[in-house]
Amino acid sequence: MIPILRTVADLRAQVRAWKAEGHVVGVVPTMGALHEGHLSLARAAKRDCGRVITTIFVNPKQFNNPDDLAKYPRTEAADALLLSSVGVDLIFAPDVEEVYPDGFATSISVGGVAGALEGEMRPGHFQGVATVVAKLFGMTQADRAYFGQKDWQQLQVVRQMVRDLNFAVEVIGCETIREADGLAMSSRNARLSAEARGKAGALHAAMTEAAQAIRAGMPEADCLTRVGAAVVAAGFEKVEYIALRDAETLGPVADPARPMRMLAAAWLGGVRLIDNIAV
Ligand code: PAF
Repeated sequence: MIPILRTVADLRAQVRAWKAEGHVVGVVPTMGALHEGHLSLARAAKRDCGRVITTIFVNPKQFNNPDDLAKYPRTEAADALLLSSVGVDLIFAPDVEEVYPDGFATSISVGGVAGALEGEMRPGHFQGVATVVAKLFGMTQADRAYFGQKDWQQLQVVRQMVRDLNFAVEVIGCETIREADGLAMSSRNARLSAEARGKAGALHAAMTEAAQAIRAGMPEADCLTRVGAAVVAAGFEKVEYIALRDAETLGPVADPARPMRMLAAAWLGGVRLIDNIAV
């Protein structure tokens, strides 16, 4: 059975031993409730690294909504079976007190790329993400870290932090894994009712159509407006944002020759879904 370590001291001892044997160590940071998207990250890590750690920690600091934190699925036993099946070497699943002991007083605030979109809609979210990811890098001492492109802005925030703070970790962004109808895999999808799940593919379908239209030279604003109208017509309650941004800075598109990304957040059946695609 795959080992599950709970303390930083135990984790450090194992990683030291692996590094002494000459292994490259990869980490896949997660909050658990694993699905095929996470497993694809673990498989990529296994291809590149001699030893792979998956961290499972539902990070309270990145939830700006207490109800979302309370409802976040926790499925450690099932997660361990899935991670064993793809050959992950170790799970690090600390308690909240191990990560944030009494007196913990540091927070990492990434500027620029963290300000827009999710940063505006979920105040404090990226501060919580950056802080815990920095801690997970420090705790695991990993050489490589794997993140999903599903959370595109998070990936850019982590890259910015790693650059700015000279972390000795290589960040690898892996393709979003989708259901047959295009819905991006996410632990939150489990909260969709059967009825809502039937409508959820509309977001990716509308975004894909709009990306094609933008590439064909149609006015961006009209294309984005049409995405909003299409998802509301499909039964989504609310669109928080649909935006076309510079893929790296997430600022407005200043140079259309640079890679662009369309990003969206919308509510369906009481569940907040996010997605993004290249344009
Ligand atoms: O993407 C996630 O699951 C989380 O934001 C992460 C990177 C594990 C930090 O808690």
